[in-house]
Amino acid sequence: MRIDAISIFPEFFSVLDLSLIGKARESGLIAFKAHNLRDWTNDVHKTVDDTPYGGGAGMVMMPEVWGKAIDSVAAGSKPVIIFTTPAGELFTQQIAQELSTKEHLVFACGRYEGIDQRVVEHFGKDFEVRELSIGDYVLNGGEVASVAMIEAIVRLLPGVVGNAESLEEESFSEGQLEYPSYTKPQSWRGLEVPETLLSGHHAEIAKWRNEQSRLRTQKNRPDLLK
Ligand code: ADE
Repeated sequence: MRIDAISIFPEFFSVLDLSLIGKARESGLIAFKAHNLRDWTNDVHKTVDDTPYGGGAGMVMMPEVWGKAIDSVAAGSKPVIIFTTPAGELFTQQIAQELSTKEHLVFACGRYEGIDQRVVEHFGKDFEVRELSIGDYVLNGGEVASVAMIEAIVRLLPGVVGNAESLEEESFSEGQLEYPSYTKPQSWRGLEVPETLLSGHHAEIAKWRNEQSRLRTQKNRPDLLK
């Protein structure tokens, strides 16, 4: 899979050098590149934004520079273009799964009050375009949101996470949250590992875990049970 990110702060993406995602890059499972949007400006100040039509606070990112950047990064390819915005569709495990089957993803990271909407409209004519939010809160820009989405997507690629089973059992894969986990020691600060997990009865353990998943989902995310 090929992934490109376009941002005025490409340094944000250096965290993708680390851990499993870093290894996936080293082994060639993914090719990732962060691009500086300002490379496509042509004034001395490398301007990327201007005041909004209609008035109001903040600045809007200009279409011309985004048009050139995306033209260049998408040249010769048919990527899915992802615009990160708090006004987007909520990014979920299902969307991560869907995007993990694509060959090329381009993350366009908005800042300020966002990107001129005509950029989304224009590229939507020739490409699959998605406006995605990682949650109901506002970040200063789409870089952190992109990193979160890239991690969620890339770990689903075959060979990135060592144990494929750990992908199947985790939270959201089956509509409820994952059960609680325990490791050694058996007794810690007066707290014991639940008896059932020590029993060696696989059917009992599966039943216990399923019940714990249900209770946890009911407590932390009742919306998922509806
Ligand atoms: N940019 C700012 N806030 C965001 C969010 N919640 N999700 C995606 N991009 C964003």
